[in-house]
Parts: sequence; C-alpha cells; structure tokens
Amino acid sequence: MRESDLQQVHEIERQSFSAPWSIEAFRYELENKATILLVASIEDGIVGYVCLRTIVDVTHLLNIAVHPSFRRKGIGTMLLGSAIEELKGSVNRDHFLTLEVRESNIPAIRLYKKFGFEVIGRRKGYYHSPKEDAILMGRGL
Ligand SMILES: CC(C)(COP(=O)(O)OP(=O)(O)OC[C@H]1O[C@@H](n2cnc3c(N)ncnc32)[C@H](O)[C@@H]1OP(=O)(O)O)[C@@H](O)C(=O)NCCC(=O)NCCS
Repeated sequence: MRESDLQQVHEIERQSFSAPWSIEAFRYELENKATILLVASIEDGIVGYVCLRTIVDVTHLLNIAVHPSFRRKGIGTMLLGSAIEELKGSVNRDHFLTLEVRESNIPAIRLYKKFGFEVIGRRKGYYHSPKEDAILMGRGL
C-alpha cells in the first residue's frame, strides 16, 4: 500500500465497516515499520487490502477488507496468505498471530479458520456501532 492508494482503500473501508478507520489511521500504519500493509489490485483499481502490525513476538491482524463487488473470489485468501508469507521472512517461527472479529461476522471467521486460526477467547462488548462481543482468535506462524 502506498499513500496514493489511500483514497481507494478508504472507500472500500467505508463500504465494509460500520465504524471505519479514518485515512489518518491508515497513514499512521503506513509510517509504522512494524506494520505490513498490502493491497490487491486489478489493473489500476484497488479491490482489497490487509494490515498486520507486529509487537515483539506477536502479530495482530488489524484490518482486512475486499470491495463488496469482488468478494468470494479468493482475494481475501490471497491477501492474508501473502501477508503471512511476508511475515515469515522477518520473524521467528515461534511467533504468534492474533485477531479480533465480530462474533456475527461469519465470512471472516470462516476465512480465519481456513488459515488455521482457532478461537482463544472472547472480549465482551468490544465493538460499538452496534455493540457486540469480539471473538479472539490465534495461531502460531
Ligand atoms: C472477510 C472478507 C475479507 C473475505 O474476503 P473474500 O475475498 O470474500 O474471501 P475469499 O473469497 O478469499 O474467501 C475465503 C473463505 O472465506 C469464507 N467466506 C468468505 N465469504 C463468505 C461468505 N459470504 N459466507 C461464508 N463464508 C465466506 C469461506 O470459507 C471462503 O472459502 P470458500 O470460498 O472456499 O468457501 C470479506 O468478506 C470482507 O471484506 N468483509 C468485510 C470486511 C470484514 O468483515 N473484514 C474482517 C474484519 S475482522
């Protein structure tokens, strides 16, 4: 992801989440050396993105979204797979991956289970707009 991608990325973000990140939030991650930010594009159009940030020996999946018109075509799988491969090049094998997901977000939970993530906890009332519990998932690298 580059600065010039941010408008398109933010449009997908707005269409994907009830409480979307601001452009500044993406910019903050772009400037953070511990963050992996990838986009998927078709010709010049961005169709999805993924964001992972590492803190010591744990990497958190902070954000992933695919444009509504391009879902269920393997783009989310490609993005998450590519990000994990990139991560493997820079951290030890005893590294751990975590994420939070709304408990009602079945598409995302299925995607994460396909990648070997398991449920490791629940955060009560973690999300707002609307209020909902987060399922905490994790896996080794
Ligand atoms: C979650 C998301 C990124 C998946 O992207 P995608 O490109 O559609 O995913 P893929 O096509 O690679 O699908 C991978 C797997 O996810 C699961 N999945 C994806 N969409 C699904 C749906 N609508 N219903 C059920 N399972 C679904 C399936 O297991 C699928 O594998 P399959 O097609 O072999 O059955 C996309 O739905 C999205 O952008 N959602 C809105 C943003 C969001 O909720 N992000 C996650 C925040 S925690």
